[in-house]
Amino acid sequence: MESKRRLVVLASGNGSNAQAIIDACADGTLPAEVVAVVSDHADARALVRADAAELPAVHVGRRSGESRDDYDARLADIVTGFDPHWVVLAGWMRVLTMNFLGWFPGMVVNLHPALPGELPGLHAIERAYEEARAGTRDHTGVMVHLVPDQGVDDGPVLATAVVPIHPTDTLPELEERMHLTEHELLVRTLGTLCARALSHETP
Ligand code: GAR
Repeated sequence: MESKRRLVVLASGNGSNAQAIIDACADGTLPAEVVAVVSDHADARALVRADAAELPAVHVGRRSGESRDDYDARLADIVTGFDPHWVVLAGWMRVLTMNFLGWFPGMVVNLHPALPGELPGLHAIERAYEEARAGTRDHTGVMVHLVPDQGVDDGPVLATAVVPIHPTDTLPELEERMHLTEHELLVRTLGTLCARALSHETP
């Protein structure tokens, strides 16, 4: 029986969530190993973090003239090469088509900084902050969900956490609270998925 789940993490930018996963694997919190960090941006800090942890750091840039479908097929090929149990979108900022998702049914997990059905797409934290300033909300949240299809930040919900927005908050203060919540929720949810899969595996 395999004792660890193999995770491929897709991250477009800073990679603080990728880092949280890497750390949780390293300290044994997660019964998993990050087998690759993949980014669509060559200069993503997520790749630097993977490199520092001595993990494969793979840049898959879009080629000039390449269609979204062709890019996704090429990305799927590369990710399949790492033989993952789970593909984790941790700050991955491209919508994935079925040319990618079709290869990983029930295996793609996305993190989004909003509650289900709220604020899909880019800049969700800033938009929640602006709504709070306008008096139309006093909290936001974080969700982790499965990605069955091209729906943007939408799919079967695995876990959520509510994050309050205080009247005195600055945007950086809210962002910090959100990211701390994300790191904890993402690692905890992956832990549940990995433990469940391992307990169902027959020797
Ligand atoms: C996180 O807030 C994540 O939830 C968000 O990008 C940020 C990446 O931060 N993802 C989305 O907005 C997906 N629609 P990180 O690079 O520091 O992990």
